[in-house]
Amino acid sequence: MTREEDGAARLAPAGEEAIEKGARILREGGLVAFPTETVYGLGADATSAEAVAKIFSAKGRPSFNPLITHVADLGAARREAELPPAALRLADAFWPGPLTLVAPRAAGGSVCDLARAGLASVALRAPSAPVARALILAAGRPIAAPSANRSGHVSPVTAAHVLDDLGESVDLVIDGGRAERGVESTIVSFLDEKPRLLRPGALAREALEEVLGAPLEGEGGEATIVAPGMTASHYAPRARLRLDASALREGEAGLDFGGRLGASEGPRPALDLSPNANLEEAAANLFLYLRRLDALGATAVAVAPIPSRGLGETINDRLRRAAAPK
Ligand code: TXA
Ligand code: MG
Repeated sequence: MTREEDGAARLAPAGEEAIEKGARILREGGLVAFPTETVYGLGADATSAEAVAKIFSAKGRPSFNPLITHVADLGAARREAELPPAALRLADAFWPGPLTLVAPRAAGGSVCDLARAGLASVALRAPSAPVARALILAAGRPIAAPSANRSGHVSPVTAAHVLDDLGESVDLVIDGGRAERGVESTIVSFLDEKPRLLRPGALAREALEEVLGAPLEGEGGEATIVAPGMTASHYAPRARLRLDASALREGEAGLDFGGRLGASEGPRPALDLSPNANLEEAAANLFLYLRRLDALGATAVAVAPIPSRGLGETINDRLRRAAAPK
């Protein structure tokens, strides 16, 4: 088989057949990549250390970095974690959806040690994407799934991205088109006295704070994160990024926002995250465009300033990591 044929054999369009096949592979301890509303996940049976070990090896991910476990609903989450009232309020408001809750694991919880990297806590999320929900329900168990990229690379928002990064090591890739939100879930920890933002994500801090009725601890991204995966260089394309650029320099490609770079003198930038300066649209395009710039052979990229409100916090977090020295 050529590399392309091999990739095609592992690829199945979303639908009943793919869900059934995927669920069977998961129950047998294999790896299935599937679309969520945030990014594509690389799934394995969260209750099996043997299955979860394959995730770490496929991604080249250090095993001290714990995984997010995906569940169908709050009932399943409560079997795995001790969720305090504030966590229940957030789940009630935002699940299913792009929110991950970190809480002490429940006695009798089924998520294996390896998925939790040996921690006494567990990260849980109930995704809203219909394919993800159907797969979790059909598998009949919680599914551990980090983003389906090589460790340190840009997260995948299409099935093709998954095959590019992990082609040979995944048993099935379910193609559900482009992941709608385009950036990972927002992670909130309930391990301290007050809820703490561990990772800014597809759900804006402001929306969480409104439900909590108080500001969230944690600077979101800048803070030292208890759990890694939040190491400086992450979400990284090959190209070198120059952030907060006001104009393109010689030899640079551009990643624009709201036409700011385009309005300056000199060559026009290639890609605009959102010509109308809409932060949701910019977040959805971010990883797609970072991969596209690599595919275009860009070696240096000037990135327009992004406002820090709403999803701007998430976009700036990912851009800082993408720009960090490798
Ligand atoms: O949108 C998403 O969240 C995607 C999709 C596939 O659901 N998943 C994802 O997973 O981004 P991953 O493994 O790439 O990111 C997991 C993050 C890591 O930064 C990890 O350190 C943190 O969650 N995490 C997991 N368990 C934790 C725990 N017990 N305490 C603190 N952080 C934890
Ligand atoms: Mg990731």
